[in-house]
Amino acid sequence: MGDDFCFAKDPLQQKSEEIQEIFNAFSPQDKNAIIPLLQSIQSHFGYLPQQSIALASWYLSIPITKVYSIITFSDHLRLEPKGKIHIEVCIGAGCYVKGGAELLQVLEAELGIKNGETTKDLLYSLNTVSCLGACGLAPAIKINHHIYGKLEPKDILRLLKEYAMRGG
Ligand code: FES
Repeated sequence: MGDDFCFAKDPLQQKSEEIQEIFNAFSPQDKNAIIPLLQSIQSHFGYLPQQSIALASWYLSIPITKVYSIITFSDHLRLEPKGKIHIEVCIGAGCYVKGGAELLQVLEAELGIKNGETTKDLLYSLNTVSCLGACGLAPAIKINHHIYGKLEPKDILRLLKEYAMRGG
């Protein structure tokens, strides 16, 4: 490690001390620490900057492809910052059979982003989740802290308009 543990020419350079503190809370020998380490990085930045993923891979000696696949399969780890309006679409079994995937398609088309992405103006971000704990309301989505259920594609357009008018 030693000299490698710095962020030369890295936009995170100013925060390197804080990052080092995050990493120092985990043993480099403990490969099982990958998820808690990624969660700590995300709680610090609000998402997982690319450089921090490379550093986590190096620190725990886990191939970077494996780290990315852990992130991809997690409902809670993000590669991009959250938008002011963060939308979670449930595609768990209960919502999927009742049209959750269609709701996702409508949102992707309307916002011009895919699952896991954030609009360039940082206004909207979109993520799928495997359950919102509101299966009785399937298909359901969550916008910021509010759950909306029994939705049809036309409801999505209405909700987006409402949030756009409020600005978040
Ligand atoms: S499966 Fe969608 S809220 Fe539970």
